[in-house]
Amino acid sequence: MNPNKLIYVAGHRGMVGAALVRALESRGEGNIITRTSKDLDLRDRNAVDEFFATKKPQIVYLAAAKVGGIHANATYPAEFFFDNLSIATNVIDSAYKHGVEKLLFLGSSCIYPRLAPQPIPENALLTGPLEPTNEPYALAKIAGLKLCDAYRKQYGCNFISAMPTNLYGPGDNYHPENSHVLPAFIRRFHEAVKNGEKEVVCWGSGTPKREFLHVKDLADGLLHLMDHHDSEGWVNIGTGIDLSIGELATTIAEVVGFKGEIVWDSSKPDGAPRKLLNVSKMSEMGWDASIKLKDGIESVYADYVSNGK
Ligand SMILES: NC(=O)c1ccc[n+]([C@@H]2O[C@H](COP(=O)([O-])OP(=O)(O)OC[C@H]3O[C@@H](n4cnc5c(N)ncnc54)[C@H](OP(=O)(O)O)[C@@H]3O)[C@@H](O)[C@H]2O)c1
Repeated sequence: MNPNKLIYVAGHRGMVGAALVRALESRGEGNIITRTSKDLDLRDRNAVDEFFATKKPQIVYLAAAKVGGIHANATYPAEFFFDNLSIATNVIDSAYKHGVEKLLFLGSSCIYPRLAPQPIPENALLTGPLEPTNEPYALAKIAGLKLCDAYRKQYGCNFISAMPTNLYGPGDNYHPENSHVLPAFIRRFHEAVKNGEKEVVCWGSGTPKREFLHVKDLADGLLHLMDHHDSEGWVNIGTGIDLSIGELATTIAEVVGFKGEIVWDSSKPDGAPRKLLNVSKMSEMGWDASIKLKDGIESVYADYVSNGK
């Protein structure tokens, strides 16, 4: 708990940043500072340095990043690389220079090697080739994780990192081309019901397996890490349970009320065959996810509908 500290949540309008602000506020950590990307572009070295020099945040949650699905990563590889690398280097270096007491950086389960052992332990990072569809994003995020460790080693900074699995929840991106699989399915199946369509075509074979964590659970887990974890490396955060993309589609079709046929377009890429995190480290630290996937999907679908979609 840091009730009297100045806490900077970078990326507060994003799905993770907004969940972090809600979680911090709900436990009384009200001294939170935020900036939109328009007010403070974290790719701008000088602007970031000036912000840290003048505002002097004591605690930093770095939840700002350029994030997207397979299509966005394939279309904008340079931006995914440059933006994420710049955000990481600028924020981490300014946090060091201006005396931030503790910083949390976010990696992602999709930056582990494509064929990592399952469930993926933390020490699988950099042990094999990356998933080619998001290699630029992964390289930038790996640099961020390693920067935190390097600043800890050389300067004694208390910078820690978490490795969340696939997330979903309020504030998710439902863009038809640039969204992750779970919100993309919600949108697609919802539209199919609305338009009376008899079939929905989904990308890939439906066989890859994925794990999904509600962002409220993630925010709780990140606060737990901030309270209890002070060492190098990164900690996986997930549910420890996965399901196939086909099963996910069936679950979402059921929640949304789609009764037609689900067709798989195998000419489209699948991504990694399986991505399940080994969450035993986090569990040993006394934290486990609590929101069941179907309950979480029902609640985000209710939000989606109430937002007039
Ligand atoms: N979503 C997932 O499934 C997932 C899974 C694992 C890990 N993560 C990690 O979680 C973190 C947050 O992801 P998210 O899903 O919350 O992303 P998001 O919803 O796309 O939000 C990203 C936020 O980053 C900010 N941002 C982007 N570029 C910026 C820039 N140049 N300067 C300042 N701010 C900038 C945006 O601010 P504005 O709104 O002000 O433009 C936005 O609010 C990322 O590090 C991501 O790698 C996400």
